[in-house]
Amino acid sequence: MSVSRFDFDTVINRNNTHCEKWDDMQAYFGVSPADGGIPLWVADMEFLPPPAVKEALASMLEGVLGYTGDYREYHAAIAGWMQGRHGWTIKPEWIFATHGIVMAVNTIVQAFCRPGDNVILQTPVYYPFFGAVRNNGCRVTANRLVRNGQGKYEMDFDALEAQMDGRTRMIVLCSPHNPGGRVWTRQELERLAEMCCRHDVLIVSDEIHHDLVYGDAGHPHTVMASLSPEVAARTITCTSATKTFNLAGTLTGNVIISDPALHRQFERQMHRAGMFLPNAFGMAAATAAYTQGDDWLDTLLPYLAANRDAVAQAVAGLSSVSTMPLEGTYLAWLDFSGYCAETGRDMQEVVRRIQQEARLALNHGHTFGPGGESCMRLNFACAKSQLSEALQRFVQVLV
Ligand SMILES: Cc1ncc(COP(=O)(O)O)c(C=O)c1O
Repeated sequence: MSVSRFDFDTVINRNNTHCEKWDDMQAYFGVSPADGGIPLWVADMEFLPPPAVKEALASMLEGVLGYTGDYREYHAAIAGWMQGRHGWTIKPEWIFATHGIVMAVNTIVQAFCRPGDNVILQTPVYYPFFGAVRNNGCRVTANRLVRNGQGKYEMDFDALEAQMDGRTRMIVLCSPHNPGGRVWTRQELERLAEMCCRHDVLIVSDEIHHDLVYGDAGHPHTVMASLSPEVAARTITCTSATKTFNLAGTLTGNVIISDPALHRQFERQMHRAGMFLPNAFGMAAATAAYTQGDDWLDTLLPYLAANRDAVAQAVAGLSSVSTMPLEGTYLAWLDFSGYCAETGRDMQEVVRRIQQEARLALNHGHTFGPGGESCMRLNFACAKSQLSEALQRFVQVLV
């Protein structure tokens, strides 16, 4: 048996390291690391990044930490990754470096919407999207995802068509979807894109989870903007090395816009916010990861798939809790509606048992918007031994 060059099994102590997931767990969930609490919430992983990232950052520390310039290597690294992993050809001049993707989505709303415009979100969805729309004076049109016969989310195309009514400026697509782990098929994306073209709706495609797709999903990730020149001309793509390679703290994202007019409009808003230069550490980390991180990612994905299966297996032991079959992401989406109906317990009691008795912190489903109320999100990107301990406690307090 070959031994992996990368270690995902060691449990790393992140306590008191200014780590949101561990150091804010007590404040948000009343779950303390000192009592053996395990955080399964914030979407970062309990793993060290690829060694090449550490080397790149260490070598920076030998030098002067001044302003950044000459982005050729950085842009080439992004373009190389998109071509190699996603078959998507991009030009360096299409790329913006932002201070993360949440910042990018906020800036996109500021750049392209007027106060009062409607923006469609397919809920339940990554909760900062709601803030990006509402904090910028726009209105969220919630388009609820529906569960199909396999228990997976599907888009409600009829409702979408009705919601594209002339006041709708934009849809923020989460692709792959968080939570629920859908990797939208080419056919689904084509149908959505066709509708957006017909109704003149801008597409913001947040593809930050695009590398975290499982081989057994049955289909690869499709880049929305790669569908056709017509779709590319109305699509703003958001990606990042931070999710793929566990570099979230470097808070550096890619916004990729091929249409020159949209590109200029976004650039003006970036400049109004004083966003001219990328973060030097984020840029170096992304460059190293995109150029030397393939093996690391190829080793990580089967590890995550095994953890995903362990979650599904543990939950299967609780007959009335269901977990959505995941095609991508490391975020299990657990539905307790059947459990509550069967046991007479409500979500408050489920949360109490999980937090107070099992000492686990999972994201509460209602924060993801309409459709998430009976759910919780469980981040399984951690060492096998840690996950196994967490799942044991989870099952114990719910039986
Ligand atoms: C869909 C989605 N977009 C954006 C982000 C965060 O992006 P950033 O950390 O670059 O702001 C996340 C993190 O979980 C996410 O799931």
